[in-house]
Amino acid sequence: MHELISEKQIADKIKDLQKIIKNKNYDYVICVLNGAYMFFSDLTKGLNVNIDFIKVSSYVDTKSTGILNVQYANFEKYVGLNVLIVDDICDSGYTLNCLKTYILNAGAKTVDTCVLLNKKTAHPIENEPTFYAFSIENEFVIGYGLDYNEKYRTLPYIAVMK
Ligand code: IMP
Ligand code: MG
Repeated sequence: MHELISEKQIADKIKDLQKIIKNKNYDYVICVLNGAYMFFSDLTKGLNVNIDFIKVSSYVDTKSTGILNVQYANFEKYVGLNVLIVDDICDSGYTLNCLKTYILNAGAKTVDTCVLLNKKTAHPIENEPTFYAFSIENEFVIGYGLDYNEKYRTLPYIAVMK
């Protein structure tokens, strides 16, 4: 395993994202658990926003199972509102696409998406997140909330799993 993105690099990028989010006046900023917990916490710290949590899972080992398992959510609460979904990473884009569709279908006014890491070559352009901090190669990463079978989430930086 080797470090890919340092704590300092993450903190600097989060400051840039906070400036963007402040200007957007979202009604809700939503954390996708578990992977986004650390990024979400740092991103929303000090911002005057309402926060909420959704829990999903789709990964076993380093492969997506292709099924988005929504374990906890209350989509009705976003009716008529502008929301931002925050996740750790956009890989195939399937997770964010599904969540965006569910929330819009439930009656939200607008849904934007924000991720820490964007695996640009792993998804088509229509699955691009609205905002992201870093673009990375198509390789499996861990740390800063991201896990490998529930391990390594508490690493304070992003590392490549090798
Ligand atoms: P997607 O639905 O394919 O975009 O995958 C999104 C979800 O898969 C993320 O929320 C992560 O939890 C997980 N995931 C994708 N790539 C990685 C990785 O490199 N490391 C750890 N988790 C990942
Ligand atoms: Mg996740």
